[in-house]
Amino acid sequence: MHEKLQKMAEEAASRLLEINNLQDLEELRIKYLGKKGALTQVLRGMADLPAEERPRVGRLANEVKKRIEDAITARADELKERQKEERLQREHIDVTLPGDRQNLGHIHPLSQIRREIEDIFLGLGYQVVEGPEVESDYYNFQALNFPKGHPARDMQDTFLINDDLLLRTHTSPVQVRTFEKTAPSVPVKIIAPGKVYRRDDDATHSPMFTQVEGFAVDKRITFADLKGTLAAFARKMFSPETSVRFRPSYFPFTEPSAEVDISCVICSGKGCRVCSHTGWLEILGAGMIHPRVLEVSGYDAEQVSGFAFGMGVERIAMLKYGINDLRLFFDNDMRFLTQF
Ligand code: PHE
Repeated sequence: MHEKLQKMAEEAASRLLEINNLQDLEELRIKYLGKKGALTQVLRGMADLPAEERPRVGRLANEVKKRIEDAITARADELKERQKEERLQREHIDVTLPGDRQNLGHIHPLSQIRREIEDIFLGLGYQVVEGPEVESDYYNFQALNFPKGHPARDMQDTFLINDDLLLRTHTSPVQVRTFEKTAPSVPVKIIAPGKVYRRDDDATHSPMFTQVEGFAVDKRITFADLKGTLAAFARKMFSPETSVRFRPSYFPFTEPSAEVDISCVICSGKGCRVCSHTGWLEILGAGMIHPRVLEVSGYDAEQVSGFAFGMGVERIAMLKYGINDLRLFFDNDMRFLTQF
Protein backbone atom coordinates (compact mmCIF):
# COMPACT_ATOMS: atom_id res chain seq x y z
CA MET A 1 0.00 0.00 0.00
CA HIS A 2 2.75 2.27 1.05
CA GLU A 3 4.67 1.53 -2.10
CA LYS A 4 1.61 1.88 -4.27
CA LEU A 5 1.07 5.38 -2.92
CA GLN A 6 4.71 6.37 -3.44
CA LYS A 7 4.65 5.05 -6.99
CA MET A 8 1.44 6.90 -7.70
CA ALA A 9 2.94 10.16 -6.48
CA GLU A 10 6.01 9.71 -8.68
CA GLU A 11 3.98 8.70 -11.70
CA ALA A 12 1.70 11.68 -11.29
CA ALA A 13 4.69 14.01 -10.98
CA SER A 14 6.29 12.74 -14.19
CA ARG A 15 3.05 12.83 -16.21
CA LEU A 16 2.49 16.31 -15.06
CA LEU A 17 5.62 17.45 -16.85
CA GLU A 18 4.25 16.27 -20.17
CA ILE A 19 1.06 18.24 -19.84
CA ASN A 20 0.86 21.38 -21.88
CA ASN A 21 -2.66 22.67 -21.58
CA LEU A 22 -5.25 23.23 -18.91
CA GLN A 23 -7.72 20.73 -20.33
CA ASP A 24 -5.26 17.84 -20.18
CA LEU A 25 -4.35 18.96 -16.70
CA GLU A 26 -7.96 18.73 -15.58
CA GLU A 27 -8.17 15.20 -17.03
CA LEU A 28 -5.09 14.28 -15.09
CA ARG A 29 -6.59 15.66 -11.87
CA ILE A 30 -9.72 13.56 -12.34
CA LYS A 31 -7.63 10.51 -13.11
CA TYR A 32 -5.73 10.72 -9.81
CA LEU A 33 -7.93 12.64 -7.45
CA GLY A 34 -11.43 12.22 -8.89
CA LYS A 35 -14.21 10.14 -7.28
CA LYS A 36 -13.19 7.14 -9.33
CA GLY A 37 -9.55 8.18 -9.43
CA ALA A 38 -6.45 6.23 -8.57
CA LEU A 39 -6.09 7.63 -5.08
CA THR A 40 -9.67 6.83 -4.16
CA GLN A 41 -9.10 3.33 -5.37
CA VAL A 42 -6.09 2.93 -3.08
CA LEU A 43 -7.96 4.35 -0.12
CA ARG A 44 -10.74 1.83 -0.63
CA GLY A 45 -8.19 -0.91 -0.09
CA MET A 46 -7.52 0.52 3.39
CA ALA A 47 -10.46 -1.46 4.75
CA ASP A 48 -8.39 -4.62 4.34
CA LEU A 49 -5.47 -3.30 6.37
CA PRO A 50 -4.83 -4.19 9.97
CA ALA A 51 -6.24 -1.47 12.23
CA GLU A 52 -2.84 -0.32 13.53
CA GLU A 53 -1.54 0.39 10.06
CA ARG A 54 -4.47 2.46 8.98
CA PRO A 55 -3.47 5.81 10.55
CA ARG A 56 0.00 5.67 9.03
CA VAL A 57 -1.26 4.79 5.57
CA GLY A 58 -4.06 7.32 5.95
CA ARG A 59 -1.52 10.07 6.72
CA LEU A 60 0.61 9.03 3.79
CA ALA A 61 -2.41 9.01 1.51
CA ASN A 62 -3.28 12.53 2.60
CA GLU A 63 0.29 13.62 1.99
CA VAL A 64 0.30 12.09 -1.48
CA LYS A 65 -3.03 13.71 -2.20
CA LYS A 66 -1.69 17.07 -1.11
CA ARG A 67 1.51 16.64 -3.11
CA ILE A 68 -0.41 15.81 -6.24
CA GLU A 69 -2.83 18.68 -5.66
CA ASP A 70 -0.02 21.14 -5.09
CA ALA A 71 1.82 19.95 -8.16
CA ILE A 72 -1.31 20.30 -10.25
CA THR A 73 -1.98 23.82 -8.92
CA ALA A 74 1.60 24.80 -9.58
CA ARG A 75 1.44 23.41 -13.11
CA ALA A 76 -1.88 25.17 -13.67
CA ASP A 77 -0.34 28.48 -12.62
CA GLU A 78 2.55 27.86 -14.95
CA LEU A 79 0.26 27.07 -17.88
CA LYS A 80 -1.92 30.13 -17.22
CA GLU A 81 1.13 32.31 -17.07
CA ARG A 82 2.37 30.86 -20.33
CA GLN A 83 -1.03 31.46 -21.99
CA LYS A 84 -0.91 35.06 -20.85
CA GLU A 85 2.56 35.49 -22.27
CA GLU A 86 1.46 34.04 -25.57
CA ARG A 87 -1.54 36.36 -25.72
CA LEU A 88 0.62 39.37 -24.94
CA GLN A 89 2.99 38.24 -27.66
CA ARG A 90 0.11 38.02 -30.13
CA GLU A 91 -1.38 41.36 -29.16
CA HIS A 92 1.91 43.08 -28.86
CA ILE A 93 2.15 46.35 -30.79
CA ASP A 94 5.42 47.83 -31.87
CA VAL A 95 4.80 51.51 -31.30
CA THR A 96 8.03 52.37 -33.07
CA LEU A 97 6.75 51.01 -36.43
CA PRO A 98 5.91 53.74 -38.97
CA GLY A 99 2.17 54.55 -38.97
CA ASP A 100 -0.32 53.80 -41.74
CA ARG A 101 -0.41 56.81 -43.98
CA GLN A 102 -3.87 58.36 -44.28
CA ASN A 103 -4.44 59.34 -47.86
CA LEU A 104 -6.29 62.62 -47.56
CA GLY A 105 -8.22 63.66 -50.63
CA HIS A 106 -7.86 67.17 -51.89
CA ILE A 107 -9.77 69.70 -53.89
CA HIS A 108 -9.74 69.33 -57.68
CA PRO A 109 -7.67 72.07 -59.35
CA LEU A 110 -10.75 73.39 -61.17
CA SER A 111 -12.69 73.63 -57.91
CA GLN A 112 -9.73 75.42 -56.35
CA ILE A 113 -9.73 78.02 -59.12
CA ARG A 114 -13.51 78.35 -59.00
CA ARG A 115 -13.33 79.01 -55.25
CA GLU A 116 -10.54 81.53 -55.75
CA ILE A 117 -12.69 83.39 -58.28
CA GLU A 118 -15.67 83.24 -55.93
CA ASP A 119 -13.60 84.55 -53.03
CA ILE A 120 -12.36 87.53 -55.02
CA PHE A 121 -15.90 88.56 -55.95
CA LEU A 122 -17.28 87.83 -52.49
CA GLY A 123 -14.67 90.34 -51.33
CA LEU A 124 -16.15 92.86 -53.77
CA GLY A 125 -19.64 92.39 -52.31
CA TYR A 126 -21.01 89.85 -54.80
CA GLN A 127 -23.27 86.94 -53.90
CA VAL A 128 -22.95 83.43 -55.34
CA VAL A 129 -26.00 82.01 -57.14
CA GLU A 130 -26.41 78.81 -59.17
CA GLY A 131 -28.77 77.90 -61.99
CA PRO A 132 -29.87 74.64 -63.64
CA GLU A 133 -27.67 72.84 -66.18
CA VAL A 134 -30.71 71.61 -68.08
CA GLU A 135 -32.10 74.90 -69.24
CA SER A 136 -34.97 76.03 -71.40
CA ASP A 137 -34.50 77.60 -74.79
CA TYR A 138 -36.10 80.70 -73.31
CA TYR A 139 -33.46 81.37 -70.64
CA ASN A 140 -30.47 80.13 -72.61
CA PHE A 141 -31.34 82.05 -75.79
CA GLN A 142 -34.60 83.94 -76.24
CA ALA A 143 -34.52 86.08 -73.12
CA LEU A 144 -30.87 86.82 -73.89
CA ASN A 145 -31.88 88.34 -77.18
CA PHE A 146 -31.14 85.36 -79.40
CA PRO A 147 -34.51 84.81 -81.11
CA LYS A 148 -35.13 81.45 -82.76
CA GLY A 149 -33.09 81.24 -85.95
CA HIS A 150 -30.72 84.00 -84.85
CA PRO A 151 -27.30 83.35 -86.40
CA ALA A 152 -25.51 84.04 -83.11
CA ARG A 153 -26.92 80.74 -81.80
CA ASP A 154 -24.29 79.12 -84.01
CA MET A 155 -21.56 80.54 -81.79
CA GLN A 156 -22.57 77.93 -79.24
CA ASP A 157 -23.10 74.48 -80.71
CA THR A 158 -25.88 73.21 -78.51
CA PHE A 159 -26.81 69.81 -77.05
CA LEU A 160 -30.59 69.74 -77.44
CA ILE A 161 -32.82 67.65 -75.20
CA ASN A 162 -36.15 68.40 -76.89
CA ASP A 163 -37.85 71.36 -78.57
CA ASP A 164 -37.74 73.37 -75.41
CA LEU A 165 -34.94 71.96 -73.23
CA LEU A 166 -31.21 71.92 -73.77
CA LEU A 167 -27.94 71.71 -71.84
CA ARG A 168 -27.08 75.31 -71.14
CA THR A 169 -24.31 76.57 -73.37
CA HIS A 170 -23.29 79.35 -70.98
CA THR A 171 -24.07 80.66 -67.49
CA SER A 172 -25.73 83.84 -68.83
CA PRO A 173 -29.27 82.41 -68.34
CA VAL A 174 -28.67 82.90 -64.61
CA GLN A 175 -28.81 86.66 -65.32
CA VAL A 176 -32.43 86.41 -66.45
CA ARG A 177 -33.42 83.94 -63.72
CA THR A 178 -31.97 86.31 -61.13
CA PHE A 179 -33.50 89.50 -62.56
CA GLU A 180 -36.96 87.91 -62.59
CA LYS A 181 -36.63 87.64 -58.83
CA THR A 182 -34.85 90.91 -58.02
CA ALA A 183 -36.56 93.39 -60.43
CA PRO A 184 -37.22 96.22 -59.98
CA SER A 185 -34.91 96.54 -56.99
CA VAL A 186 -31.21 97.43 -57.17
CA PRO A 187 -28.34 97.00 -56.54
CA VAL A 188 -27.75 93.43 -57.72
CA LYS A 189 -24.24 91.97 -57.67
CA ILE A 190 -24.06 88.28 -58.46
CA ILE A 191 -21.59 85.67 -59.60
CA ALA A 192 -22.94 82.43 -60.98
CA PRO A 193 -20.44 79.58 -61.37
CA GLY A 194 -21.31 76.25 -62.94
CA LYS A 195 -20.98 73.68 -65.68
CA VAL A 196 -21.89 74.45 -69.27
CA TYR A 197 -22.02 72.25 -72.38
CA ARG A 198 -21.07 72.68 -76.02
CA ARG A 199 -20.48 70.29 -78.90
CA ASP A 200 -16.73 70.84 -78.92
CA ASP A 201 -13.84 68.53 -78.19
CA ASP A 202 -10.12 69.18 -78.62
CA ALA A 203 -7.06 70.18 -76.60
CA THR A 204 -8.59 73.53 -75.69
CA HIS A 205 -12.31 72.64 -75.79
CA SER A 206 -14.28 70.07 -73.84
CA PRO A 207 -17.99 69.21 -74.29
CA MET A 208 -18.42 70.12 -70.64
CA PHE A 209 -16.61 73.01 -69.04
CA THR A 210 -17.01 75.53 -66.28
CA GLN A 211 -17.92 79.19 -66.44
CA VAL A 212 -18.26 81.93 -63.92
CA GLU A 213 -20.81 84.55 -64.84
CA GLY A 214 -20.73 87.90 -63.11
CA PHE A 215 -23.21 90.76 -63.34
CA ALA A 216 -24.18 93.94 -61.58
CA VAL A 217 -27.24 96.14 -61.98
CA ASP A 218 -27.69 99.51 -60.36
CA LYS A 219 -28.46 103.14 -61.15
CA ARG A 220 -25.79 104.64 -63.42
CA ILE A 221 -23.53 101.61 -63.80
CA THR A 222 -21.07 102.34 -66.59
CA PHE A 223 -18.52 100.60 -68.75
CA ALA A 224 -15.87 102.15 -66.47
CA ASP A 225 -17.27 100.09 -63.57
CA LEU A 226 -16.90 96.98 -65.70
CA LYS A 227 -13.29 97.84 -66.55
CA GLY A 228 -12.41 98.64 -62.96
CA THR A 229 -14.02 95.45 -61.66
CA LEU A 230 -12.26 93.21 -64.17
CA ALA A 231 -8.91 94.93 -63.70
CA ALA A 232 -9.21 94.43 -59.93
CA PHE A 233 -10.13 90.81 -60.50
CA ALA A 234 -7.19 90.17 -62.86
CA ARG A 235 -4.70 91.71 -60.45
CA LYS A 236 -5.97 89.56 -57.58
CA MET A 237 -6.24 86.40 -59.65
CA PHE A 238 -2.93 86.60 -61.50
CA SER A 239 -0.54 89.26 -60.21
CA PRO A 240 -0.64 92.95 -59.20
CA GLU A 241 1.19 93.81 -62.45
CA THR A 242 -1.45 92.26 -64.71
CA SER A 243 -3.11 94.68 -67.10
CA VAL A 244 -6.38 94.21 -68.98
CA ARG A 245 -7.32 95.11 -72.52
CA PHE A 246 -10.82 95.34 -74.01
CA ARG A 247 -11.43 94.53 -77.67
CA PRO A 248 -14.79 95.22 -79.34
CA SER A 249 -16.85 92.08 -79.81
CA TYR A 250 -20.43 90.93 -80.20
CA PHE A 251 -22.88 89.14 -77.93
CA PRO A 252 -26.63 89.53 -78.46
CA PHE A 253 -27.22 90.16 -74.75
CA THR A 254 -24.64 92.91 -74.22
CA GLU A 255 -24.20 96.26 -75.92
CA PRO A 256 -21.50 97.32 -76.27
CA SER A 257 -19.69 93.99 -76.01
CA ALA A 258 -16.04 93.24 -75.50
CA GLU A 259 -13.58 90.44 -75.34
CA VAL A 260 -11.18 90.95 -72.47
CA ASP A 261 -7.51 90.08 -72.53
CA ILE A 262 -4.95 90.12 -69.75
CA SER A 263 -1.25 90.72 -70.25
CA CYS A 264 0.41 87.34 -70.73
CA VAL A 265 1.05 85.66 -67.38
CA ILE A 266 4.02 83.77 -68.82
CA CYS A 267 6.02 86.54 -70.55
CA SER A 268 4.35 89.60 -68.92
CA GLY A 269 3.52 90.97 -72.38
CA LYS A 270 6.86 90.56 -74.12
CA GLY A 271 5.51 87.84 -76.38
CA CYS A 272 5.91 84.06 -76.08
CA ARG A 273 4.50 80.79 -77.38
CA VAL A 274 1.58 80.75 -74.89
CA CYS A 275 0.27 84.15 -76.05
CA SER A 276 1.18 83.45 -79.70
CA HIS A 277 3.67 86.31 -79.48
CA THR A 278 0.92 88.90 -78.97
CA GLY A 279 1.64 89.56 -75.29
CA TRP A 280 -2.09 89.11 -74.52
CA LEU A 281 -4.37 86.28 -73.44
CA GLU A 282 -8.13 86.27 -73.89
CA ILE A 283 -9.88 85.31 -70.67
CA LEU A 284 -13.50 86.40 -70.90
CA GLY A 285 -16.41 88.01 -72.69
CA ALA A 286 -18.18 91.01 -71.24
CA GLY A 287 -20.32 94.03 -71.93
CA MET A 288 -23.11 96.31 -70.79
CA ILE A 289 -26.31 94.31 -70.32
CA HIS A 290 -28.56 94.88 -73.33
CA PRO A 291 -31.59 97.04 -72.41
CA ARG A 292 -33.85 94.36 -73.86
CA VAL A 293 -32.51 91.74 -71.41
CA LEU A 294 -33.21 94.08 -68.52
CA GLU A 295 -36.70 94.86 -69.86
CA VAL A 296 -37.82 91.22 -70.38
CA SER A 297 -36.90 90.47 -66.79
CA GLY A 298 -38.81 93.43 -65.35
CA TYR A 299 -36.29 96.26 -65.11
CA ASP A 300 -36.80 99.75 -66.50
CA ALA A 301 -33.72 100.21 -68.69
CA GLU A 302 -34.22 103.98 -68.53
CA GLN A 303 -33.69 103.88 -64.79
CA VAL A 304 -30.99 101.23 -64.30
CA SER A 305 -28.07 99.75 -66.18
CA GLY A 306 -25.72 96.87 -65.66
CA PHE A 307 -22.65 95.04 -66.84
CA ALA A 308 -22.00 91.33 -67.25
CA PHE A 309 -19.03 89.11 -67.92
CA GLY A 310 -18.45 85.41 -68.36
CA MET A 311 -15.16 83.58 -67.98
CA GLY A 312 -13.96 80.05 -68.58
CA VAL A 313 -12.59 78.47 -65.41
CA GLU A 314 -10.55 75.83 -67.28
CA ARG A 315 -8.87 78.50 -69.36
CA ILE A 316 -7.92 80.49 -66.28
CA ALA A 317 -6.63 77.34 -64.56
CA MET A 318 -4.58 76.45 -67.65
CA LEU A 319 -3.00 79.90 -67.71
CA LYS A 320 -2.37 79.96 -64.00
CA TYR A 321 -0.79 76.52 -63.86
CA GLY A 322 0.78 76.43 -67.34
CA ILE A 323 -1.29 73.44 -68.55
CA ASN A 324 -1.56 72.95 -72.31
CA ASP A 325 -4.29 70.31 -72.58
CA LEU A 326 -7.71 70.98 -71.08
CA ARG A 327 -8.65 67.29 -71.13
CA LEU A 328 -6.16 66.64 -68.31
CA PHE A 329 -8.66 68.19 -65.91
CA PHE A 330 -11.22 65.52 -66.73
CA ASP A 331 -9.05 62.41 -67.14
CA ASN A 332 -8.75 62.09 -63.35
CA ASP A 333 -5.22 60.76 -63.53
CA MET A 334 -3.91 60.94 -59.97
CA ARG A 335 -0.40 61.76 -61.20
CA PHE A 336 -1.83 64.97 -62.63
CA LEU A 337 -4.35 65.83 -59.92
CA THR A 338 -1.99 65.42 -56.97
CA GLN A 339 0.25 68.18 -58.34
CA PHE A 340 -2.18 70.86 -57.22
N1 PHE B 1 -21.99 83.97 -72.20
C1 PHE B 1 -20.88 84.38 -73.00
C2 PHE B 1 -20.18 83.14 -73.56
O1 PHE B 1 -20.35 82.09 -73.02
C3 PHE B 1 -19.90 85.18 -72.21
C4 PHE B 1 -20.46 86.50 -71.77
C5 PHE B 1 -21.07 86.59 -70.55
C6 PHE B 1 -20.37 87.60 -72.58
C7 PHE B 1 -21.57 87.81 -70.11
C8 PHE B 1 -20.87 88.80 -72.16
C9 PHE B 1 -21.46 88.91 -70.94
O2 PHE B 1 -19.49 83.21 -74.54
